[in-house]
Amino acid sequence: MSRIVYLINGPNLNLLGQREPHLYGHQTLADVQTECTRLAAQLKLQLECRQSNAEHQLIDWIQEARARAGGIVLNAAALSHTSVGIRDALTACAIPIIEVHISNIYQREAFRHHSHVSAVAAGVIIGCGTQGYQLALQRLATLLDAA
Ligand code: DQA
Repeated sequence: MSRIVYLINGPNLNLLGQREPHLYGHQTLADVQTECTRLAAQLKLQLECRQSNAEHQLIDWIQEARARAGGIVLNAAALSHTSVGIRDALTACAIPIIEVHISNIYQREAFRHHSHVSAVAAGVIIGCGTQGYQLALQRLATLLDAA
């Protein structure tokens, strides 16, 4: 099983650290990616970090991961709540997917309470702040070690 892991972030997460810090914290996306890359190396994973505001780009990266990765950590952001296309791309993957939401979406507006990603994810980490990305990597390492 490949030890490559894709860390994919969706729309507006390029603004982490600037955008609604009371919800998403003060770390920038670059901070998150640096920390995760360091942790991934400790876990003997090779991390590929991606972010886009465009649905089609996220789908292309999920398909890329399908062909070469052992797992995906995905925060599809607002598209989690709307995108059947992303769900279909994930369904086509035979590798584990861990969904992350930085904020606790269940404490927020009702339209955030449903995610199309959750039903096809091996695990879901919600409301743990940006630490959720690290928890997701640890879980993927556990799954890949057991495979
Ligand atoms: C988010 C929650 C989504 O509802 C929101 O649209 C985001 C970020 C989170 O990480 O908490 O952009 O996915």
